[in-house]
Amino acid sequence: MVIAAQDLTLAYGDKNIVKKVSLEVGPRTVTALIGPSGCGKSTLLRTFNRMNDFVPSFRLVDGKIMYRDLNVYSGDVDPVFIRRRVGMVFQKPNPFPSSIYKNITWGPSINGYTGDFDQLVESSLRRAALWDEVKDKLNSSGLALSGGQQQRLCIARAIAMDPDVILMDEPCSALDPASTARIEDLIGELRERYTILIVTHNMQQAARVSEHTAFMFQGELIEHAVTKQIFNAPKHKLTEDYIMGRFG
Ligand SMILES: Nc1ncnc2c1ncn2[C@@H]1O[C@H](COP(=O)(O)OP(=O)(O)OP(=O)(O)O)[C@@H](O)[C@H]1O
Ligand SMILES: [Mg+2]
Repeated sequence: MVIAAQDLTLAYGDKNIVKKVSLEVGPRTVTALIGPSGCGKSTLLRTFNRMNDFVPSFRLVDGKIMYRDLNVYSGDVDPVFIRRRVGMVFQKPNPFPSSIYKNITWGPSINGYTGDFDQLVESSLRRAALWDEVKDKLNSSGLALSGGQQQRLCIARAIAMDPDVILMDEPCSALDPASTARIEDLIGELRERYTILIVTHNMQQAARVSEHTAFMFQGELIEHAVTKQIFNAPKHKLTEDYIMGRFG
């Protein structure tokens, strides 16, 4: 197990949003998190690296998040360490308003990275399948790239921190089909090194990129199984209705 939710209940204020969810994710796999809008996917995803700490009304009501042998919400665990090991890519590409080069080096430099920055930039951009397109303009602004390139830059920025896990919340929803296909190919390569959790509304995408799929409905985890089973022989009627497009 690399990350897990154990009997997890999460709330905003006094409203429980995620209810008694248990989910284990093994190393170097891609897990898709699917379910109708508002069912709690992003809320769950953001607890794995404590991004919800920035939401004042957020509360962990009950249960645990584990990252390997660490209880992520225990007082002696440093959230900054967790966010370094468990990186995140958001729905809208959000490069820093600075050069491509600095987008990659900023995080590692404030973390006291002592290696060769040129090498780090090249290897991160290569792993994010962006190097060939930007190698001659590393000093131009990250914001001058296309949306798909910006998203790969954000993936490169996450990779530069040497994460163990990468969380992706609808990483392709702002991208055109060609850019989406590139990101999907990239996820296929990244799985050799990283554990990936991806939220998606695109059923074809879930089927294409993931080995495991977890279906949530109204805050509960209804079914979690290998992706083929979820799409070919779901055990739960709600799962079947959702993947057949009968709701959500
Ligand atoms: N900061 C917040 N404060 C209060 N309620 C929130 C907050 N963020 C989300 N919620 C509520 O929690 C529920 C779950 O939201 P969440 O964003 O986790 O859903 P989701 O499954 O990611 O939906 P989508 O597919 O639309 O992104 C929703 O009812 C939402 O309105
Ligand atoms: Mg969401």
